[in-house]
Amino acid sequence: MQLISAISMKTIFPTAKFQQLRTPFYYYDTDLLNKTLQAAQSEADSYGYHLHYAVKANANPRVLAIIRAAGFGADCVSGGEIQAALAAGFAADKIVFAGVGKADWEINLGLDKDIFCFNVESIPELQVMDNLAAAKAKTACVALRINPEVDAHTHAHITTGKKENKFGINLDQLDSVLDVLDRLKNIKLIGLHFHIGSQLTELEPFQALCERVKTLLADLAKRNLHLENINFGGGLGIDYDNPNAHPIPDFGSYFKIFHDNFPVAAGQQIHFEPGRSIVGQCGSLISKVLYVKEGSVKKFVILDAGFTELIRPALYQASHLIENLDSHEPEETYDVVGPICESSDCFAKDIQLPQTQRGELIALRSAGAYSEIMASQYNCRQLPMAYFSDLL
Ligand SMILES: Cc1ncc(COP(=O)(O)O)c(C=O)c1O
Repeated sequence: MQLISAISMKTIFPTAKFQQLRTPFYYYDTDLLNKTLQAAQSEADSYGYHLHYAVKANANPRVLAIIRAAGFGADCVSGGEIQAALAAGFAADKIVFAGVGKADWEINLGLDKDIFCFNVESIPELQVMDNLAAAKAKTACVALRINPEVDAHTHAHITTGKKENKFGINLDQLDSVLDVLDRLKNIKLIGLHFHIGSQLTELEPFQALCERVKTLLADLAKRNLHLENINFGGGLGIDYDNPNAHPIPDFGSYFKIFHDNFPVAAGQQIHFEPGRSIVGQCGSLISKVLYVKEGSVKKFVILDAGFTELIRPALYQASHLIENLDSHEPEETYDVVGPICESSDCFAKDIQLPQTQRGELIALRSAGAYSEIMASQYNCRQLPMAYFSDLL
């Protein structure tokens, strides 16, 4: 099954303008972000699905403002993200709040702001939420986050829907959770939530998820439980190898899988939490070559960006397309590394780049998701700036 669409759109980098800017920095193609948002929204609209952008992917205030302006709700996993979403103008009644370890102040914030839904992950969390809601004479609307035990065929660090993962409630524990829920007066169960993993490049796991949820809902109906909100989470992947050929994920095929495999009951609302698929391709990390070092067995391109600006390769062996924006010389083989004092600070090994020199600009592509938001100040480094194509 072909996941990624064939809409081709080459990102043109304004390298002359880049010369004025201190590297490394993030560069966001605003036009591509807007086109991606339009594609996602129009495909979701054709089935009446609700989209909540996963703020964890990128919480840059301008990115959030653009996504909010496109009509999205927000999916948050911390109190800080709820604050960022509210500051960007997201409506509280379009905010969902997940997370395996919600602190009391975070639950209180959600209650005070009357967010749409808490995605709850355990019995102790339900009990604490009930107490906190009772103290405010409020009712917390919750969806139970269920582990559907569907294999997402993705990297072990970003698969989430299996029994051994820390997230969610296992299917065999659901009955006891429902028994507890019956006794909690300040909790209203309004739905179920699922998220099987991230960077899924096949659609079959989503189809398997639909089958699992159908069976589960049939079982719940026997208990006379009819839930009006079903949230399928996020997870749609992007093409890291070839971002120019596939700048916008195939939202049409993605939503169609759910439409074809999950019949919506009367009055039921279907929700999604896309993150990477919305922002991944519009961002690049722009860096400068500090040195080209000839080792005895390898040549290293040493950049001024490291895992402090893009941790995905070090964290889960992710690979990003690396382009030299200045050189058109014949290709050579290099390891591309950063300046951080850790061996894991390596972006790519044995890749082909045009012959590269000190001072040339390098783009690490598909760095819109899980990049700026994961930046750190390790080695006492400065957090980098972010620039947008329409404001440069
Ligand atoms: C609960 C939840 N929803 C949504 C997302 C967003 O996933 P993605 O960026 O793969 O779309 C995540 C990310 O892991 C998540 O944990």
